[in-house]
Amino acid sequence: MNPFREDLSARSSAEPCTIVIFGATGDLTHRKLIPALYHLAVDGELPTGVKIIGFARRAKSDQEFRDGLAEINRKISRSGHDERVWNPFIETVSYHTSEFTDAEGYRKLAEKLDAIDSARGGKGNRLFYIASAPEFFDDILIQLKNAGLNHAGNGCWARVIVEKPFGIDLATAKHLNEVVNATFHEKDTYRIDHYLGKETAQNLMVLRFANAIFEPLWNSKYINHVQITCSENLGMEGGRGAYYDTAGALRDMVQNHLLQLLSLVAMEPPTDLTADGIRDEKVKVIRSLRKWDTAEKVAANVVRAQYAAGHVDGVPVPGYREEDRVNPQSDTEAYVAVRLLIDTWRWSGVPFYIRMGKRLPKKSTEISIHFKDAPCVLFNASCGGVPGGNVLVIRIQPDEGISLRMVSKIPGNNLRMEPVKMDFHYATSFGKTSPEAYERLLLDAIAGDATLFARRDEVEEAWKFIDHIEHAWHKSPTPPPMAEFIAGTWGPKEADDLLLQDGNQWRRL
Ligand code: BG6
Repeated sequence: MNPFREDLSARSSAEPCTIVIFGATGDLTHRKLIPALYHLAVDGELPTGVKIIGFARRAKSDQEFRDGLAEINRKISRSGHDERVWNPFIETVSYHTSEFTDAEGYRKLAEKLDAIDSARGGKGNRLFYIASAPEFFDDILIQLKNAGLNHAGNGCWARVIVEKPFGIDLATAKHLNEVVNATFHEKDTYRIDHYLGKETAQNLMVLRFANAIFEPLWNSKYINHVQITCSENLGMEGGRGAYYDTAGALRDMVQNHLLQLLSLVAMEPPTDLTADGIRDEKVKVIRSLRKWDTAEKVAANVVRAQYAAGHVDGVPVPGYREEDRVNPQSDTEAYVAVRLLIDTWRWSGVPFYIRMGKRLPKKSTEISIHFKDAPCVLFNASCGGVPGGNVLVIRIQPDEGISLRMVSKIPGNNLRMEPVKMDFHYATSFGKTSPEAYERLLLDAIAGDATLFARRDEVEEAWKFIDHIEHAWHKSPTPPPMAEFIAGTWGPKEADDLLLQDGNQWRRL
């Protein structure tokens, strides 16, 4: 059986290319990128003729590299490891040893690429995926340019995917953008945010704009508030503490994933479905986020916290400061909750609450739209009012789906009411699991579709918002305090108070 189907019905514009992954010995390559490419092969969506080169500093043979990839794929592939697909797939993968700063390594890479192209009849499309440690991003981009690999002639393309973190603040993000734009065209630059590749995140636009019933209600007249929660039960396993302790929840997840989700929920309908049509609207949302001008106002709207030792899934876990490779005096937040206001006509006065935390009770990401209560005049007298309002829940992961909470009469002779749920589950409705975000995003980059990637201005506007909070935390003479919660619980009391000031509470997940 030839596992690489010839027809590319799903992505007719996906052309053969060579994918070069920088940082090929890292976790991302082993756990996400190669399994995603393998899965595209399983589904027959990887264009025929794709070749993959892993570029990293550690000396390895092609075979050693392939063996390491196979070992992980066997353990984690979402549909199992099928040797009939894997064997021809892994034949397309090779390894290139070089320092990221060594011009000679890039010259040899160019030779390898040319050899692949001539065997392919001169077609030289190239996709460079920068998944190395962030301190090498600049060097890699500059070396690619010096080696002449940043453009392709002969009607071919050269594109670059840049992994996160895209900077650590506005200044570093701007600098990186300048290096990127001095080496690759903006249209060939793909700043990845893997949350945009998640099936339910993509469905947000369909839900909002392909269903006539939601859009008329999608504003401050009918919506009381919106919540976005991204909870994780993991802590700092696998040495992750070293990176995380320099980043914190706000930079690691809010600047990118959560603000991207927020912009999809709050954006105006785009004029068309082009990448720029959509991104023009998303960036307006991020630009309209209210910024607070004093540390006191930041403290009233943003809660940061660390976890103390506790239990997650019945297993004892250490406190944040006792985690592996975390500074015992760390001032980095592993939980953050923010009360946001979007200063636009549509959202005037509607709070958006977002929260993200490590070592919470479970892994779950969801968006909930809380509609205003129905006027109680009718039911007050007869049964004491209506129990709670309508809530539309969009589950990003796991158990992707959408549910709508409504109030219904309990069967019987008395007028008694209870909230009920209409539920849609992707897995049961469509009978298959959603692809991994990286599958979709890699295929889009090969096909030249940048819709699900962040544009330069989006990244910079998001950093502007994050920077003003970080500034209040770390540079103000009266920094807001660090709250604490027990690992395995739903965050600090201060985060509950954040909503209580508006008469709201966090949804139970
Ligand atoms: C990454 C963050 O971008 O996203 C991690 O750096 C986080 O800290 C991860 O755990 C979560 O991704 P997902 O897809 O597992 O929700």
